[in-house]
Amino acid sequence: MDHHWSKKKVLVTGAGGFIGSHLIERLIDLGADVTGFVRYNSRNDWGLLEIIPPHMLDSLEVVSGDLLDFDAISGAAKNVDVIFHLGSLISIPYSYNRPRDTIENNILSTFKYLNRGKGTGCGKIRPYIFKRGIWHGAVCAD
Ligand SMILES: NC(=O)c1ccc[n+]([C@@H]2O[C@H](COP(=O)([O-])OP(=O)(O)OC[C@H]3O[C@@H](n4cnc5c(N)ncnc54)[C@H](O)[C@@H]3O)[C@@H](O)[C@H]2O)c1
Repeated sequence: MDHHWSKKKVLVTGAGGFIGSHLIERLIDLGADVTGFVRYNSRNDWGLLEIIPPHMLDSLEVVSGDLLDFDAISGAAKNVDVIFHLGSLISIPYSYNRPRDTIENNILSTFKYLNRGKGTGCGKIRPYIFKRGIWHGAVCAD
């Protein structure tokens, strides 16, 4: 397992979030070379990535942008071996109140990204599915 991730170039979207930031810590522990894609904000705040152990920052490149901006995501995804796509709006009350925003942000951005996978250099896309059959994201792996 450790050998598998050593020196692998990995992009994680939703990097400032709960799962993304913990995944990044683990990947860095396993020797991966990680790029974290965080949503841009004017405070240049990286979310939960702000509190990962400081020594891990040497193995991490952070790219700010929006998943709806295909140029931003395809730029970040150039030459990576694996993509964990975890960026999304996850709040259930918010998705009831703002379904359009949720659909555009989560489904359309993922669709664009999958549909133009070649532009990201992603050869093979494996969706990952959690319990109850709900699709929560995708992993790009050659
Ligand atoms: N947390 C859990 O227990 C859990 C369980 C099962 C599945 N999941 C799934 O895992 C994924 C990540 O969940 P999480 O708990 O880390 O969520 P989170 O809200 O902590 O993180 C999501 C991140 O995505 C980013 N994001 C949202 N829209 C973006 C956009 N347009 N551009 C760039 N970044 C954007 C947010 O800024 C946030 O940092 C989701 O798909 C979620 O449904 C989470």
